[in-house]
Amino acid sequence: MSTDSGDGKARLAILISGRGSNMQSLLAACDSGQLAAKVCLVASNNPEAEGLPYAAGRGIKTISLDHRQFASRTDFETQLAKSIDDSGAEYVLLAGFMRILGESFVSRYQGRMLNIHPSLLPAYPGLDTHARAIANGDTEAGASVHFVTPELDGGPVMIQARVRIEPDDSSGKLAQRVLEAEHRMYPIAVAWLVEGLVSLQNGQCHWQGEAMPSPRLLGDIEASA
Ligand code: GRF
Repeated sequence: MSTDSGDGKARLAILISGRGSNMQSLLAACDSGQLAAKVCLVASNNPEAEGLPYAAGRGIKTISLDHRQFASRTDFETQLAKSIDDSGAEYVLLAGFMRILGESFVSRYQGRMLNIHPSLLPAYPGLDTHARAIANGDTEAGASVHFVTPELDGGPVMIQARVRIEPDDSSGKLAQRVLEAEHRMYPIAVAWLVEGLVSLQNGQCHWQGEAMPSPRLLGDIEASA
């Protein structure tokens, strides 16, 4: 996809609802040059999101659209899409964005919108992923980056990070270790997207035009770096 900022950098909108640590890792990757991109908008449905002042302090345009102030989901999403499009963003990155998005919004950004989810999808879509994995006696947890489709946490996965569950793990301790992997993984996935290495075709992840039989693994990528 072409970039319109004139500097060869892809334009990103990041959607958050809270802390925004994944947003920070994406910003750091833009700063370091790992990601040939710039963040042109950080948007939140939660006016109290801790990530908003951080982004604003970095001189990034921020917008908070409190979903409770809109008459309907469609009204909220129409305004959100307008803000994204007005910013010139080409790609939309969900980073702890806690609203389910409707079909029309999702199809508008099809193939250009990613989410990061703290489980080894398709296991544990939804909330409380780490507590559920521990309660089930799993030995492994992790995180996934996937294209967003109308099905909640159900889109094609391009990369996963696996994290061992230790016998004495609490969901908080596990979440912290998974989050560290998320921070390394999301910039890699976004770089693949903006460089055109990975794409969504016929509902499947493709790598340089070839259907991917399975998600790539962060551990393999880091081991070969
Ligand atoms: C992360 O665990 C992410 O996988 C999930 O929500 C959390 C957001 O954390 N979708 P942060 O706001 O990026 O710190």
